[in-house]
Amino acid sequence: MSNTTFPPLVAGNWKMNGTLASLDEAKALMARLDGKTPACDVMLCPPFTLLFKMGETLADSTIAMGAQDCHPKETGAHTGDIAAEMIAETGATACIVGHSERRTDHGESNELVKAKAEAAHRAGLVAIICIGETIDQREAGRTLQVNTEQLKGSLPEGANAANTIIAYEPVWAIGTGHTPTTDQVAEVHGHIRAELGGLMGAEEAAKVRILYGGSVKPANAQELMAVENVNGALVGGASLKADDFFGIIEAYL
Ligand code: PGA
Repeated sequence: MSNTTFPPLVAGNWKMNGTLASLDEAKALMARLDGKTPACDVMLCPPFTLLFKMGETLADSTIAMGAQDCHPKETGAHTGDIAAEMIAETGATACIVGHSERRTDHGESNELVKAKAEAAHRAGLVAIICIGETIDQREAGRTLQVNTEQLKGSLPEGANAANTIIAYEPVWAIGTGHTPTTDQVAEVHGHIRAELGGLMGAEEAAKVRILYGGSVKPANAQELMAVENVNGALVGGASLKADDFFGIIEAYL
């Protein structure tokens, strides 16, 4: 299932969802995982406001924690922004950057995403860099080209399999219930692996985890996670409920 030396990763992106009461879902997930040893790492990425509390909640568990974004700079006059160094202090070990919702809602360019990934690395966080085409780009036959551009434009110097994870998230599959066919997923993931080879050398590229994201559910997780070059999932909606998220992790049990 995985051809990397790092275990696959199933990460839950809570997006702008979650209050203190939602920590109960993290506790329920811990209970579901108790005594189980899935062949994957598990991570929750709550909103900034929950990072410290979530860190405390997960402290004695095998579940890792990530943030959903960071600012490129370490400190300064950037009202409302959060530095990667601040995130690291919460116990988070990773940070999502370049999610399509940020690229769309906040007009984030590849250049900015790259600077954010660099900031994550500077703070000792694993950067989970998201890329993916829109439906118009796919229908225009530009899927591989778009993913190449985003990958090359967003990947910082010094990126390697230990500090960087790529998430392929076709924009048209996010939150829609539509997923690409396994052939389409295999094509893009294989392409990303090959492009990474050109950027960091084939040996290192073979170890990079490439997650699939976009409408992953318990019902389709097993099939999607079995696709060649798929090394885990980035899960939105289905990560909010412990039972659903556990149902996805079960693909690795
Ligand atoms: P979804 O979101 O699982 O709700 O489609 C995935 C993501 O945006 O990371």
